[in-house]
Amino acid sequence: MKLWGGRFTKETNALVNEFNASISFDQRFYKQDIEGSIAHATMLGIQGIITEDESKKIVAGLESILKDIESGALTITDEYEDIHTFMEATLIERIGDAGKRLHTGRSRNDQVALDMRLYTRDQVKATSVELLDLMRVILRIMKENTETFMPGFTHLQKAQPVTVAHHFGAYFEMFKRDRSRLKDIFKRMNYCPLGAGALAGTTYPLDRDLVAKLLDFDGPTLNSMDSVSDRDYVIEFLDALSIIMMHLSRFSEEICIWNSNEYKFIELDDAFSTGSSIMPQKKNPDIAELVRGKTGRVYGALMSLLTTMKGLPLAYNKDMQEDKELAFDAMDTTLGCIKLFKGMIDTMSFNKKRMEDSAKHGFTNATDAADYLVKKGVPFRDAHGIVGQLVLMCLDRGIALDDLPLDEYKKISPVFDNDIYEAIDLRTCVDKRLTIGAPGPEMMNKVIAIYEEYIDD
Ligand code: ARG
Repeated sequence: MKLWGGRFTKETNALVNEFNASISFDQRFYKQDIEGSIAHATMLGIQGIITEDESKKIVAGLESILKDIESGALTITDEYEDIHTFMEATLIERIGDAGKRLHTGRSRNDQVALDMRLYTRDQVKATSVELLDLMRVILRIMKENTETFMPGFTHLQKAQPVTVAHHFGAYFEMFKRDRSRLKDIFKRMNYCPLGAGALAGTTYPLDRDLVAKLLDFDGPTLNSMDSVSDRDYVIEFLDALSIIMMHLSRFSEEICIWNSNEYKFIELDDAFSTGSSIMPQKKNPDIAELVRGKTGRVYGALMSLLTTMKGLPLAYNKDMQEDKELAFDAMDTTLGCIKLFKGMIDTMSFNKKRMEDSAKHGFTNATDAADYLVKKGVPFRDAHGIVGQLVLMCLDRGIALDDLPLDEYKKISPVFDNDIYEAIDLRTCVDKRLTIGAPGPEMMNKVIAIYEEYIDD
């Protein structure tokens, strides 16, 4: 069944039908299509463009279609070009002539622009909710680990001691920014394109404000040509999803490192790891690796749509049908990854002793030893050199700064005293870092309180 047979004298080539069709993938927004049509029909009735009775029949018909699709009584079949054609044909089948009036003052161009916007809007919300759930788990881990010491790294080399709470807090911040990006996108995209028609509006007295209100938009869009050719919001959303995936991927990389035999900082739960078919000893971090790997396809969707849109003249062009498949895949992929990632970190355990031991070795307290000298009046650059010599001495003997006898310290600088050991103790090094954003548990607890408010907001 076609919506446009009138001016044609020949049947469409079968391959063209197949190539042109979008129903295999646009059927996923059947609900949004019905929602939009109900608002349109309601407005047509109120405006007297169709009769009250026709409007009521259309709405009832669309509601029955929705019910039957959801119960499985009605199947969306691919004998139709797209979901819009399927809906109109099914409606006419069910309610007769009144169904033929639904498309008055509407084009599939503004219809698909609306459906995509409604669908994307729901996905933006769902992603934000899923991220918040992940952040709840991160916050729980932070609260339990304000005094779980671990090495902080730069260049993957041990740098200064931090805590698990502090490290996880970094990801809390990233996901907080991600959610604020989603909020911005929602605000910018929340205008209703229906009523733009094919591209130049319509001569019917449509009430676009009413339709926008019925569909929970902040108002109608203001330029009909832009309305049917704008996919910025999909691109923005794919951009936000790419950044979320980039964050998850970095986090995943750390999970893989921490889970490695050499580190053994964490233990993944059996339910969230996998084995090898040949090596019985293996317990692999497949979830983390897959999240890291799937990041590529989300980036791909973003690049693909940017490229599709770059050469398009106004207004609607069929190229824009290509906004869907990869975007849907990116939305599903990201939501799935957030869920799986959350389950994985919620069930993993920390090898606290190993983390603390690792923080104690590798001279993560060398900066604190230099700061000790500075507090006693030595200029920082000199202090840096003195501690460098001490580190070299310790490396030679295979010991930590904590284990070097005081007379050896004094040989390099007479400023050192017995209180050096307290000053470079791991706990002191972390506890004293009390500026905003630093890992000291006292400051960390203040930040945690702010995060708790954020979660409950
Ligand atoms: N399936 C089309 C899409 O996804 C719907 C709009 C078709 N409009 C048209 N004039 N061919 O973009």
